[in-house]
Amino acid sequence: MLRRLHPVQPDSFEFTPANLEWAKAQMTKYPEGRQQSAIIPVLWRAQEQEGWLSRAAIEYCAALLDMPYIRVLEVATFYFMFQLQPVGKIANIQICGTTSCMICGAEDLIEICKRRIAPTPHTVSEDGKFSWEEVECLGACANAPMAQIGKDYYEDLTPAKLEALLDAFSDGKVPLPGPQNGRFASEPAAGLTSLRDHGGGGGELNASAALAREFGETVKRIDGTEVPILTKWLKSDQPAAATEQARKTETREIAQEPDLPAEAGRRPEGLDAPRDDAADDLKLIKGVGPKLEELLNSLGFWHFDQVAAWGAKELAWVDANLEGFKGRASRDDWVTQAKVLAEGGETEFSSRAEKENLYDKE
Ligand code: FES
Repeated sequence: MLRRLHPVQPDSFEFTPANLEWAKAQMTKYPEGRQQSAIIPVLWRAQEQEGWLSRAAIEYCAALLDMPYIRVLEVATFYFMFQLQPVGKIANIQICGTTSCMICGAEDLIEICKRRIAPTPHTVSEDGKFSWEEVECLGACANAPMAQIGKDYYEDLTPAKLEALLDAFSDGKVPLPGPQNGRFASEPAAGLTSLRDHGGGGGELNASAALAREFGETVKRIDGTEVPILTKWLKSDQPAAATEQARKTETREIAQEPDLPAEAGRRPEGLDAPRDDAADDLKLIKGVGPKLEELLNSLGFWHFDQVAAWGAKELAWVDANLEGFKGRASRDDWVTQAKVLAEGGETEFSSRAEKENLYDKE
């Protein structure tokens, strides 16, 4: 199916203040400069607000995430979860038409949609309340045929049951999601024959349906005021409004994190000048020539004991900052050599370098 922007578009889109806060809070989940990774939740929120993604909404999200429009359009047109045309103001009914559901009667459900809503998919009904579409497997095959209505699954459907659901939604009710034939979950229709405790704790709904009812978002549009906007990933219950400051704090915390991975590196402490005005000959370390010695000195490293004290993080930082020689410090194992030299010992290289005046010849 071709996924194109709808020919009739609104002039503008903007998040409600609450949804904007929510979107900005999502962006704090990602490292500085990687905020584009929030594209899916941000687009989804725009869809939750309006019901579908207009061109204006796509451009708004692109601007928010500092992304080229085309990149966001690519995402919006790739995923079927994004609606590119107006949907019914109550719900867009998604009928699974894949194998299990088709065998169990999905085509009859689609006939109901054609008759009750509109003869063609992605068309809003005359009363504006519903639209419908056929979708691929929604992973509830053991409860076929099924439909997703709003955010919830309605399973074990029959044409009559779907009609009853449409009537209820139309009257402003939200019927209980889950199996519609009395099953608790996906046990045999005749009841459990073994492992008779289904683990539901005696509840009326299975865990998934109970959660759906608890969230209560169902077919509602989300303007951001319905649900608490928290930023749990910042280890805080603070509202998203406070997240900009929280993000900065978090960044600092990460920078000071003692278990920072070694590859991130940490600058070793350097000296402004050699102690007693007497620098060690760092060229006695294999792999350090005159140029690298100069570079090391400029970074504040003049003595063997300084190099000998580098841990993994310091070594990673030095490796990354040896312009033109990146990685050499660990490749030539400067730390081990420096430990020997700092204690007044010799390495095979240092004795040869001294004997042959390797660098004085240059
Ligand atoms: S085939 Fe319909 S949910 Fe899998």
